[in-house]
Amino acid sequence: MKKVYLLSAILVAASALAQKQSTAWRVDSVLELMTLEEKVGQMNQYNGFWNATGPAPVGGDAATKYQHLRNGWVGSVLNVQGVEEVRAMQRVAVEETRLGIPLIFGCDVIHGYKTLSPVPLAEAASWDLAAIEKSARNAAEEATAYGLNWTFAPMVDISRDPRWGRIMEGAGEDPFLGSRIAEARVHGFQGSALNDPLSMAACAKHFAGYGFSEAGRDYNTVDVSDYTLYNVIYPPFQAAKKAGVATFMNSFNTLNGIPATGNQALASVLKEDWGFEGVLVSDWGSIGEMQAHGYAENLTQATQQAATARCDMDMESLAYVQYLAALVREGEISESIVDDAVRRVLKLKFDLGLMDDPYRYCKRPGSWEPTTSPWSADAQDLAEKSAVLLKNNGILPLTKKQAIALVGPMVQEKNSPLGNWRVSSDDNTALSLYEGMVQVRGEKRMAVASGPVFLKGPISFPFEAEINTTDTAGLHSVVDAARNAEIAILALGEHGFHSGEARSRMSLHLPGVQEHMIREVLKVQEHVVLVLYAGRPMILPEDITEQVDAILLAWQPGTMGGPAIANLLMGKRSPSGRLPVTFPRTEGQIPLYYGAFNTGRPGPSDAVFWSHYGDGPNTPAYPFGYGLTYSTVTYAATQAKQMGDSIAVTALVKNEGKVAVDEVVQLYARDHHSSVGVQPVRRLIGFQRVTLKPGEERMVSFSVTADLLSVTTSEGERLFEPGTFSFWVAPHSAAGTSASLDWK
Ligand code: BGC
Repeated sequence: MKKVYLLSAILVAASALAQKQSTAWRVDSVLELMTLEEKVGQMNQYNGFWNATGPAPVGGDAATKYQHLRNGWVGSVLNVQGVEEVRAMQRVAVEETRLGIPLIFGCDVIHGYKTLSPVPLAEAASWDLAAIEKSARNAAEEATAYGLNWTFAPMVDISRDPRWGRIMEGAGEDPFLGSRIAEARVHGFQGSALNDPLSMAACAKHFAGYGFSEAGRDYNTVDVSDYTLYNVIYPPFQAAKKAGVATFMNSFNTLNGIPATGNQALASVLKEDWGFEGVLVSDWGSIGEMQAHGYAENLTQATQQAATARCDMDMESLAYVQYLAALVREGEISESIVDDAVRRVLKLKFDLGLMDDPYRYCKRPGSWEPTTSPWSADAQDLAEKSAVLLKNNGILPLTKKQAIALVGPMVQEKNSPLGNWRVSSDDNTALSLYEGMVQVRGEKRMAVASGPVFLKGPISFPFEAEINTTDTAGLHSVVDAARNAEIAILALGEHGFHSGEARSRMSLHLPGVQEHMIREVLKVQEHVVLVLYAGRPMILPEDITEQVDAILLAWQPGTMGGPAIANLLMGKRSPSGRLPVTFPRTEGQIPLYYGAFNTGRPGPSDAVFWSHYGDGPNTPAYPFGYGLTYSTVTYAATQAKQMGDSIAVTALVKNEGKVAVDEVVQLYARDHHSSVGVQPVRRLIGFQRVTLKPGEERMVSFSVTADLLSVTTSEGERLFEPGTFSFWVAPHSAAGTSASLDWK
């Protein structure tokens, strides 16, 4: 029997008027039609629970969820892949429910859909905001062709702990860089309008503090000061909000004793202080997890706590759908909280254009081969811009004539470079370094060997990657190839599945038998170049970093990593990436970050009574902002001059070498006294990526406003206090000459 769809009838009748009516009016007109259960349904999100193009599920959880969907008790689903599936599930929501309200389809489109850019931390190393925005745009263009309209990205969590596996998903340790990247990513995903079918709603996650989990162990406790909260953790979220991000996601952790998902103070910062009008979704199961935290006695109480903390949507806790309506009826929760949440969800559906056409994301079905897709050239460009040259004694770039040994576990890897956060892309679709070198340099005089097995078994998203730590069979092939070549290129590091969610590590050394491999190669070959694949800062022993000729950090470079890294090795382009996070010398230094406080005993001094370690230096292996090029760029002394209500800070920068380079010129400041509290020894307040031809010099100048020098108080106020400031225009956070002045 043909169904009458009440909502579509109303919408069609109203369509002439609709253009003129505000979305708020349209939202309210839908809200008025809804029962309490239907309202709660809009606050319920399920993981894709059945193959929607197949028969309806019978029995078990899937059947219950299916019934919920048909009842109109589901507002959104995640992880449904492909237009056919999306269309089939949307059809149930639109045609089989009383009101026919369409679903929003969410997915973790983190650094691409099938065509993968470098992992987000790597992208951050490009310091190229336009390229990062383009990468998010490309991801949206590809993902929307598969029916999706909501990505759970960008993750804007600042982290200063490389043990935390999810450091790979963020923009590193710095709130200023993190904020600019947050804006770029939101603009990229959402484009100029959400109702553009190539745009998807973005999600600033995880609110808040997730990157500060104690000891870098994922999901662990977070206990931070107001200073850190307001000046380090919040800024990228605020930047995302200002950029118009459509949604936020709660974090799993407790924040100063209260789970973020049930944290009313956090909600009021977001929704009152910042005026966020979008949807706040829980993280996966994070409402239910409040029981394990010891905050909720049962799921009913967790429901109450999350709803009171104005979490608008329950991702997979099955809490709201079971208990929320009853709690409202019992007067435990005001219906106005539910109405507010539903308004936000409906508004998003209107903004995405779904209320006008639920299938608008199903009209551009496509599927592209990742390495030749319309986005692959940009993915390669960003992989080239992201790689960081950590050491070079002149051996790089290579020449075509040299006999090289291309060896190590990453040489022929087509999977690991994709990283682990690739819900939708297909395994083994990256171009390997070997394939890249063949493309760029040709196969002549190139011996290839992968060496000992790296992983003991198959890898998969939910399980630990098991590393071979004992078996060195195959090492001889690496050593022989290295001995017989003029240069050994050793491609190694951690596997793509060693970083990401739940992939914290105690040791940041090269896993398995790799350090042994490098030392064996160094015995037979004087010229060794390391190409390091990683999703986090790694620790390389000093005897190794001293002996090798060059180290190029490739990160997990994505689909086009092979040709990108080959182009850099062969000098088709100069490396230009800069570290968005400090590389410590040893795990014992963690957390180690440049924007630290001075302490009362900064030292050094002859006696032991200063803030230091007795068994090693305070300084990192490589500081934040660090990265070399194939040229030498010099910086003249920093100049600072007050110009009315701003300060002009300048430095003359010169490319002294023979190749063109992109130089990331960084501006740091220090506020010597603040009534809010102690301020960091340096903080990044500006940067410019400038292209310098051989011999070119350029006056790089920054205009520093009071806002850039302000501090946020624990009341959330931006406070500027005149006084003494120092500035550095520098190639990284541990370099440069300073200029000080008194802002009057
Ligand atoms: C992660 C989120 C992600 C969600 C949905 C969670 O485990 O913490 O970042 O968006 O799953 O996949």
